Amino acid sequence: MQKFDVIIIGAGAAGLFCAAQAGQKGLRVLLLDNGKKAGRKILMSGGGRCNFTNLHAQPGAYLSANPHFCKSALARYTQWDFIDLVNRYQIPWHEKTLGQLFCDDSAQQIVDLLLSECATGQVTLRLRSEISAVAKTAGGFELTLNGGQVCAPQLVVACGGLSMPGLGASPFGYRLAEQFGLNVLPTRAALVPFTLHKPLLEQLQTLSGVSLPSRLTAEDGTVFNEALLFTHRGLSGPAILQLSSYWQPGEHISIDLCPQLSLDELIDSERLTQRNLSLKNCLAKALPRRLVEVLQQLEIVPDVSLKQLNSKQQAALTETLHQWRIQPNGTEGYRTAEVTLGGVDTRGLSSKTMEAISVPGLYFIGEVVDVTGWLGGYNFQWAWSSAWACAQAL
Ligand code: FDA
Repeated sequence: MQKFDVIIIGAGAAGLFCAAQAGQKGLRVLLLDNGKKAGRKILMSGGGRCNFTNLHAQPGAYLSANPHFCKSALARYTQWDFIDLVNRYQIPWHEKTLGQLFCDDSAQQIVDLLLSECATGQVTLRLRSEISAVAKTAGGFELTLNGGQVCAPQLVVACGGLSMPGLGASPFGYRLAEQFGLNVLPTRAALVPFTLHKPLLEQLQTLSGVSLPSRLTAEDGTVFNEALLFTHRGLSGPAILQLSSYWQPGEHISIDLCPQLSLDELIDSERLTQRNLSLKNCLAKALPRRLVEVLQQLEIVPDVSLKQLNSKQQAALTETLHQWRIQPNGTEGYRTAEVTLGGVDTRGLSSKTMEAISVPGLYFIGEVVDVTGWLGGYNFQWAWSSAWACAQAL
């Protein structure tokens, strides 16, 4: 039986960062992962450039049954702390949009940073580790692995959520929480594209690849102003991914296809100088032409000139284009979701240390916990902050 001070399950963002911090405190750390590589999601993230944090990270950007839970960790290890670390490694980065910070070159640099921090902390990293049993003993926790048995007085669960099973996602962390009597809140895919019902899907499929600025509103009133993308399965783009976290099956979403400009005003002003201009050509000044053509096929845009468009038609048209109500069929699910909503109920955890209140020595960090951020670097920031909070307590 090999003994350690801490065993961490999951060499993703949270597990790697926690292992490094704990190791650098002088603890003997074993970091286990069932995959071939550490930090697989980091490598895939941000289109290969890893959106590693957000300048505007703050508790309001996180969903949880207890919205206060994330406050302490986010305040104690902030986006500025992680930016300092990235700067120490001289990794060039840039703000893409809305406070989202990306590596200039490659997400591999963030994984290398974390592995280097782990090496400084003399962390033992064991990949391809299959854990068949976890038992509580008087001295802590005993784990049965494919390569024998290991034990430690403290166990950190950093197994992530269910999104992207192809990248190693598994329900292991939730099952472990349940094994130790913790509550696990229902999970669902989030930051995920919507699928559409036929016939709307078929009608919009020709728009696949068209993107435009939009303002999306969920039934609970949550609003996001970001790009919308039509796909061959339905709707995607940052605005849709964001809204998906606030959407429940059966609900409608409202889409403003032209948030930057009043289409009423555009039509009125164009009519003053070009009465014979077709409505289609007028709208194409503000919206992608392919979209206007499809909206005409759907009879949302009448096939008339500006002088022929009566005030009732104009009011109905502009209302639809600024508040297009669509009922998604569903989401693409965990296969393409960036994160998982729900998870280990924060009521059973200390917000200061991430330790299970009823099981001293057992900790949960990162995405396995019921804390889910917006799109744009917020989820990695939660991984860093929760990992750091935990490491201070080990
Ligand atoms: P993470 O999923 O990173 O790690 C969990 C680890 O546990 C994995 O290595 C897994 O192999 C391991 N594991 C699971 N079960 C196990 C078991 N039974 N035994 C041993 N090991 C096990 N966020 C963001 O802020 N900016 C971004 O740019 C992106 N981009 C992005 C792209 C894509 C494609 C995805 C899928 C997700 C993102 N995200 C993101 C979200 C972000 O990746 C996610 O929130 C964090 O990786 C969560 O970190 P964790 O360490 O909690 O889990």
